[in-house]
Amino acid sequence: MRLRSIQRLQKIVLAYSGGLDTSVSIKWLQEKYDADVVTVTLDVGQQEDLNEIAEKARMLGAISHYSISVVEEFLKNYIFPSIKANGLYEGKYPLSTALARPLIATTLVEVAEKEGAFAVAHGCTGKGNDQVRFDVTIKTLNPNLKIIAPVREWNLSRDQEIKYAKENGVPIKAQKSVYSVDQNLWGRSIESGPLEDPSVEPPTDAFEWTKPLDETPDEPGYLEIHFESGVPVSANGNSYDPIHLISYVNEFAGNHGVGIIDHMEDRLVGIKSREVYECPAAVCILEAHRDLEKLVLTRSELAFKTQVEQQWSWLVYTGLWLDPLREDLDAFIDATQTRVDGSVKLKLFKGGFRVVERSSPNSLYDLNLATYEGVSKFDQTAAVGFIDLWGLPSRVGFAKKARKKPLQQIRA
Ligand code: ARG
Repeated sequence: MRLRSIQRLQKIVLAYSGGLDTSVSIKWLQEKYDADVVTVTLDVGQQEDLNEIAEKARMLGAISHYSISVVEEFLKNYIFPSIKANGLYEGKYPLSTALARPLIATTLVEVAEKEGAFAVAHGCTGKGNDQVRFDVTIKTLNPNLKIIAPVREWNLSRDQEIKYAKENGVPIKAQKSVYSVDQNLWGRSIESGPLEDPSVEPPTDAFEWTKPLDETPDEPGYLEIHFESGVPVSANGNSYDPIHLISYVNEFAGNHGVGIIDHMEDRLVGIKSREVYECPAAVCILEAHRDLEKLVLTRSELAFKTQVEQQWSWLVYTGLWLDPLREDLDAFIDATQTRVDGSVKLKLFKGGFRVVERSSPNSLYDLNLATYEGVSKFDQTAAVGFIDLWGLPSRVGFAKKARKKPLQQIRA
């Protein structure tokens, strides 16, 4: 008891965002576990004032605070592999939040081991995917660490939480937004408030990275992205360092109102939810990358890779980043990417965009074969025999099954 006011016996490492949930958690963890709380805030490109967050953590009684920039690692080891994998969940979501979670969890474990903490804590609720991503990664890396999720465990309503905050000297900022936002270099996830009704269009105040259409330029903009070995290396002729390249594309596309995703998503825990994102760089880079692959990879490679991509995205979405299968899939993906060099030009206008030009030194496109003009080295006479054999199994099957019907029924 004597030591208590100076130093408690046990330590908990808390992933700290500076928001109400994790701020209240500092007090709650100290109280409930009689433990010291070490807070950790990571820079994953979310553009927040980390000094302010550190200050707040100390003010609330964290015995020490770590501000760690992992943005470069996030880009090279998580975003780049996702570009190569055309990482999209359910065909739409570029996995921006999902990709950052295993990196944050890994860093928490590192800090916990360094600090000799017995537990790590995070602010996830029990209804989402993030809790799964954190818990699975932490448990995989260090099964001896206890995992504490105060929000999930405590299950407080917003009002109860505010009451607790007031009683415990946790400052409550006037809510500047009704939305719950998670953002990093690869995108911005926006949830709650009016977005919870999927039958209603998102209000414009949900968006910060994409301009409303009445403020976007009245002329189309062109964005040329150059790729080497499957990753972007320059945009519109400028070789930015990779982090600035992504920021540049985010800004350029966002300025044209490009990057909003609004879709119905199936969370791992079984809940259907309406999810809204702003991912200007991700949607442009992924579209350009996929188009370039179509120029340089064979039909068979593309077909097989599509299946690999689905499995890869599923692993990432569901928190299984550390499953050995992910690295196995990366090995295949990396092998295909050695030829994904070249440039793709996108035309952006009033919230929409499409690829308008692509070129590559490894292009499989052969004008001599494809042209409809007179001289081509494609032997059209060979097509007849090819078609005969190509359709053979279908012809045989069809003859057995359906030709008893009149043609009119077949058409219907
Ligand atoms: N539905 C997305 C996902 O599961 C976004 C989650 C946003 N997370 C958050 N804490 N606001 O990856």
